[in-house]
Amino acid sequence: MVSAAIDFGTTNSVIAYVKDNKIKMVPLNGRLLESKSVLFYDFEERSFSVGQEAINALQAGEIGRFFVALKSFLGTKEEIETTLQGKTYTISQLIAIILKSFKRVLENEAKESINRVVLGRPVNFNDNSKELDKLAQLRLESAAKLAGFKEVIFEYEPIAAALTYTKDIKKKQKILIADIGGGTTDYTVVEINGNKKNILSTSGVYIGGNSFDKKIIQNYVSYYLGKDSKYVNMGKTLSVDSRFYADLSEYHKFQTMYDVEIINSIKKLHSMSKEKDKIQRLIELIEQRLYFDFIEAISGAKIELSKIDLATIDMSFFTNPFSLNLSKEQFNNSINFELKEIEKAMQEALKRANSSYSDIDRVFLTGGSTLTPAVRAIYYRYFDESKIEYSNAFSSVGYGLALKAKEIF
Ligand SMILES: Nc1ncnc2c1ncn2[C@@H]1O[C@H](COP(=O)(O)OP(=O)(O)OP(=O)(O)O)[C@@H](O)[C@H]1O
Ligand SMILES: [Mg+2]
Repeated sequence: MVSAAIDFGTTNSVIAYVKDNKIKMVPLNGRLLESKSVLFYDFEERSFSVGQEAINALQAGEIGRFFVALKSFLGTKEEIETTLQGKTYTISQLIAIILKSFKRVLENEAKESINRVVLGRPVNFNDNSKELDKLAQLRLESAAKLAGFKEVIFEYEPIAAALTYTKDIKKKQKILIADIGGGTTDYTVVEINGNKKNILSTSGVYIGGNSFDKKIIQNYVSYYLGKDSKYVNMGKTLSVDSRFYADLSEYHKFQTMYDVEIINSIKKLHSMSKEKDKIQRLIELIEQRLYFDFIEAISGAKIELSKIDLATIDMSFFTNPFSLNLSKEQFNNSINFELKEIEKAMQEALKRANSSYSDIDRVFLTGGSTLTPAVRAIYYRYFDESKIEYSNAFSSVGYGLALKAKEIF
């Protein structure tokens, strides 16, 4: 029997299957293993597409709804529902469409039907509530069942990464693994002794690369879309509602802005605005379906700053284009809080493992956000350079989930 392994990430997903005791990683995007975890609903075709196909449809100008960071909805209190042409979808139903497309790709490759899956999950779907964390896993499990999987097993994402990194290690040692993705920061401390692997602790916090992007939007970009700008209503000068800008900066929440009432209230605001050009950009972001371009411009600049000291945030897709420079220093300063939280979660992982820094023999960094130099600097402050290793930013969790599938099924 064949089994599947799916790392359904906030930003990127990776899939694999296990057949005849062999692991096969299946590329989702040409030669790349990982593909963006995005979904597009085409109003004309009345159908969904996933990943690169979804991006292609959007960029070809198809009219529809584009979904990003759906994983971030799993741990929320509200029961999120989306209505598309009269049909209402729960968050589980939307994620099921993505998982089902992965299942199909895997089955085509394996040339067999697949009924069981090992799915990754972060240590915390919600930092503040055990109940919501449980609910999040149930929502994801229900998505997997709706996608057609009969048996669903969960594994913590950092433990999956740990399985990958410790695959060939036998020498007695303690290892810290940090997995920082788009949505979450996750840690595990593992002790290896010969063939024995002992998970000493896990810890996690709901902070990742999207939290960094959010700060860039809030501190530098939203001003160009009318944040803090003024409008005149019945002779009174007022500031625009800040709630629009909160939803603008959180990728999964932007969806709520497609609501007709919200669009209408922004249009009304536009008519009274003292800075119409800026509010116009907000309207275009929603109506011209520019949000993916927007996200790419923000995260693209952040990614540039992993290599160079000054990046340009290029918003040339608006009728009224703008661009701004962002320095590494500005970026680092604006994510100070997030860096502290990432550091605290690491301290927590060590504390739970009853370990001190000097007990740790090796540190493995994985997940796209460990490419941010200020994030890496955290580990270099605590551990000797020679202990820190870095590889497979995007595939270590997916491969580890497949190792788990191989072991249990
Ligand atoms: N070179 C880079 N420098 C900084 N950040 C990067 C770089 N490349 C990718 N990222 C960021 O890494 C994040 C995606 O990483 P990854 O694919 O590991 O996340 P994920 O698995 O989808 O999310 P999660 O595990 O939190 O659900 C995004 O925020 C992206 O902007
Ligand atoms: Mg991940």
